[in-house]
Amino acid sequence: MNRLTNIAILGSTGSIGRSSLDVISTFPDRFRVTYLTAHRNLDLLAEQIHRFRPHGVVVPDESSARRLRYLVNGTTELLVGEEGLYEAVTREDVDTVVSSLVGFAGLLPTLRAIEAGKDIALANKETLVVAGELVMQKVRERGVKLMPIDSEHCAILQCLQGEDAQSVARLILTASGGPFLHVDRESFAQITPAQALQHPTWKMGNKISIDSATLMNKGLEVIEAHWLFGLAPDNIDVVIHPQSIIHSMVEFVDGSIKAQLGIPDMKLPIQYALTYPERQRSVFQRLDFAALQCMTFFAPDMEKFRCLALAFRALRCGGTAPAVLNAANEVAVHEFLKGRVAFSAIPDLIEAALASHNVVQHPQLSDILRADRETREFVSKQMNAVPL
Ligand SMILES: NC(=O)c1ccc[n+]([C@@H]2O[C@H](COP(=O)([O-])OP(=O)(O)OC[C@H]3O[C@@H](n4cnc5c(N)ncnc54)[C@H](OP(=O)(O)O)[C@@H]3O)[C@@H](O)[C@H]2O)c1
Repeated sequence: MNRLTNIAILGSTGSIGRSSLDVISTFPDRFRVTYLTAHRNLDLLAEQIHRFRPHGVVVPDESSARRLRYLVNGTTELLVGEEGLYEAVTREDVDTVVSSLVGFAGLLPTLRAIEAGKDIALANKETLVVAGELVMQKVRERGVKLMPIDSEHCAILQCLQGEDAQSVARLILTASGGPFLHVDRESFAQITPAQALQHPTWKMGNKISIDSATLMNKGLEVIEAHWLFGLAPDNIDVVIHPQSIIHSMVEFVDGSIKAQLGIPDMKLPIQYALTYPERQRSVFQRLDFAALQCMTFFAPDMEKFRCLALAFRALRCGGTAPAVLNAANEVAVHEFLKGRVAFSAIPDLIEAALASHNVVQHPQLSDILRADRETREFVSKQMNAVPL
């Protein structure tokens, strides 16, 4: 009988973390949860501890640890802070790390896990956006398996099975277009956080929901695809497909196109990442083509959705530019969610940050950390100059 695969989930209380636990719970003979991590949602973490009995959990600070001890009276080890995250992902009783923290916070624990030789199921796209060259180099050096959880990259990976890398002409990432696909650009300044959080086809965490509304999410995915599949920016296209049924496509040199289809449910790519290269039965809802009736496609409006154009620009600049794009976006989205800047100001802040930055090519980790820190400071200062 196969040994159980021990899994650590970074961000088990988030949207991807919860879906990962749902998938894992359907394969009790195959997977065992050994570490879970949370940030604010300690009540949910306590429930997950009761249900999955992990060896250890990570919480952000001592006061969270005290509260969790009060909620859970068990044998689960409590680890604390960033050091706790690094400890959890490098332990012997971990084979695979589901990297599903949100934002830049996911980079360092994911890097530590790779350095420790753990396989990675990667939802945290920001890891590859900010440090793609460095991360892919470490993945090769350590010989670990890096499986994308993003549905687009999972789709591309499936389309590439059995194909020669030389025969790939173009990757085509599909995008739902988000909630403002048919809203005039002139109205963008009035968009509220509550409106921007209403995604038409996917239920996700707050940050990625706003990124989907600005199409920055697609831009981050273009950068992620570049590092995962080794294609130049000119060979990566985006097409709007509001039904989110085709998750992405690959065009080959002979003009053939392969697509991967399915209902929009993140449990499917999570299961594929965890069971790869096998396919396992699932109870997920099946696609009903007759009920679907039609699928539509059109080109994204890069002038209206400037964040997508800025992501392509940062990818073409290379080096630390994507780290700057990401940091500026994280601050701008945070401030928008707090009601302190307008939706329409998000690309303005990112553009200003990119313009002010001197790009370092082939950056070391220290260059990336500096670019991230300086950009956060820069955007925070700009905030006062941006009208609401
Ligand atoms: N959701 C999706 O459908 C989807 C699809 C593809 C890719 N992704 C990517 O997956 C990642 C996670 O997305 P999500 O939607 O699952 O996000 P989410 O629902 O906001 O969950 C984020 C998780 O990270 C934890 N966390 C937040 N800030 C942290 C910090 N500073 N330090 C440590 N932990 C922290 C949260 O803990 P608490 O909840 O306890 O505060 C939560 O467990 C993102 O990179 C996103 O782009 C998501």
